[in-house]
Amino acid sequence: MLMEIIRKRRSVRSYKEEAVPNEIIKEIIEASRLAPSAKNLQEWKFIIVKDEEKRKALYKAAKNQQFVKEAPIIIAGVATYTNYVMTNGVPACYVDLAIAMEHIALAAAEKGIGTCWIGAFYQDEAKRILEVPDDCVIVALMTLGYPKEELKPMEKRRKDLEEILCWGKFC
Ligand SMILES: Cc1cc2nc3c(=O)[nH]c(=O)nc-3n(C[C@H](O)[C@H](O)[C@H](O)COP(=O)(O)O)c2cc1C
Repeated sequence: MLMEIIRKRRSVRSYKEEAVPNEIIKEIIEASRLAPSAKNLQEWKFIIVKDEEKRKALYKAAKNQQFVKEAPIIIAGVATYTNYVMTNGVPACYVDLAIAMEHIALAAAEKGIGTCWIGAFYQDEAKRILEVPDDCVIVALMTLGYPKEELKPMEKRRKDLEEILCWGKFC
């Protein structure tokens, strides 16, 4: 059930060394392929990084966050077209990439595989490492791997519903 997977997903910052088979990675990326996007632009690429040297370089680009070095896989979510601004004034690519990458996180969680979003990284450095063209943007990196501690539904430190739910007008 979706709500159970949503409750199970958490940021995993401790991974087993065990490799994730390519077939499983493909199934997970299939979930992002099916994500919605503004005008169905699908302005995305997902780079799977397994190579140790590249992962080490990304770890440095991600401000030496320890778990980035430990994770067996790092995924880069790249926006390949950044110019489309929706009528609401919001650039579509960041919304679209966020949806697609959360699909990845949830599809992984369903399989007992852990992920952690990474926004704290130097854009130019990560682009250089992954040979991403200048006109693209790496919207986020995400670690992926089997968690040392099994994923299970748990309480989350979140604001109460009453604090964020408004009926009919801003509250
Ligand atoms: C866009 C985004 C960027 C994030 N960047 C980082 C990061 O650079 N390093 C990190 O350790 N966690 C990062 N996180 C994870 C958040 O800290 C985490 O999702 C939040 O504390 C809630 O915890 P949970 O994911 O376990 O539910 C990021 C999350 C999001 C959505």
